[in-house]
Amino acid sequence: MGLKDRLALVTGASRGIGAATAKLLAEAGAKVIVNYNQNKEAADIVVENILSNDGKAVAIQADVRDKTQVDAMVKVAVDEFGPIDILVLNAGMKVPYNLFVDLTWDDFETKVMGEMQCFFYPLKAVIPSMIENKNGDIIGISSGLSRRPGPNFSAHTTAKSAVDGLMKSLALELGPHNIRVNTIAPGFTLTDATSWMPKDRVETIAKMTPLRRVGMPEDIASAIVAILSDQFGFMTGAYIPVSGGSLMI
Ligand SMILES: NC(=O)c1ccc[n+]([C@@H]2O[C@H](COP(=O)([O-])OP(=O)(O)OC[C@H]3O[C@@H](n4cnc5c(N)ncnc54)[C@H](OP(=O)(O)O)[C@@H]3O)[C@@H](O)[C@H]2O)c1
Repeated sequence: MGLKDRLALVTGASRGIGAATAKLLAEAGAKVIVNYNQNKEAADIVVENILSNDGKAVAIQADVRDKTQVDAMVKVAVDEFGPIDILVLNAGMKVPYNLFVDLTWDDFETKVMGEMQCFFYPLKAVIPSMIENKNGDIIGISSGLSRRPGPNFSAHTTAKSAVDGLMKSLALELGPHNIRVNTIAPGFTLTDATSWMPKDRVETIAKMTPLRRVGMPEDIASAIVAILSDQFGFMTGAYIPVSGGSLMI
């Protein structure tokens, strides 16, 4: 796949889609930085899982909304392993579930600006060395809700639409430096973030999905790893729904 010994930083890799992505990247031969914010135990389990399968990984704590913490994480990673080749921007803010009329500016600002910080600081920390090395891959994790909004998700849709715009702008600016930038848009995926959803609603979503099931973290992770492979070497600026078909209807 061309991933052997490339160094990947996956933000928010202690749980959910990020954890599945870190494990699959390691299986494909990449060295993985498993970033987490609060849950060291979960991050350590991801790393142990990778190491026990003869992969290479290390867990590094950083709240990716904080420039100082991100810069410190990247410095530790680079000092230990060398420059970062792959950046998977997976960490995002909690999703406020409220009609717009009930949404406060604080909720909206926390979500939208927090999501931007989760992308901005890791990008700022990693892009210069990618440009210097004329090599890099960036994946931004958006959401199907960026293009297909639903009631109560206005803050999330706004934040993820901004992610889409940023990824497209970067694909344009970084293409000449041989850096690919693509966006993955998961549909509903079973993770801690969606565990609040009542079972009957999950079943309804599955019934309305052409493939008749909801996503698992591994479904999203395998699409991410595929796109990072050499087979997709001429693809940049793409927005790829991974949703069992739910995002076309
Ligand atoms: N699940 C879905 O249905 C779905 C659908 C579309 C898009 N997405 C997107 O997919 C991404 C991952 O979602 P998920 O469902 O896998 O979430 P999740 O299971 O709740 O996991 C969130 C992960 O992000 C980390 N994280 C949160 N804030 C962070 C911060 N400020 N700095 C560093 N790490 C942070 C958490 O670390 P700790 O363990 O340390 O807290 C955890 O590893 C998000 O961008 C989300 O918007 C999810």
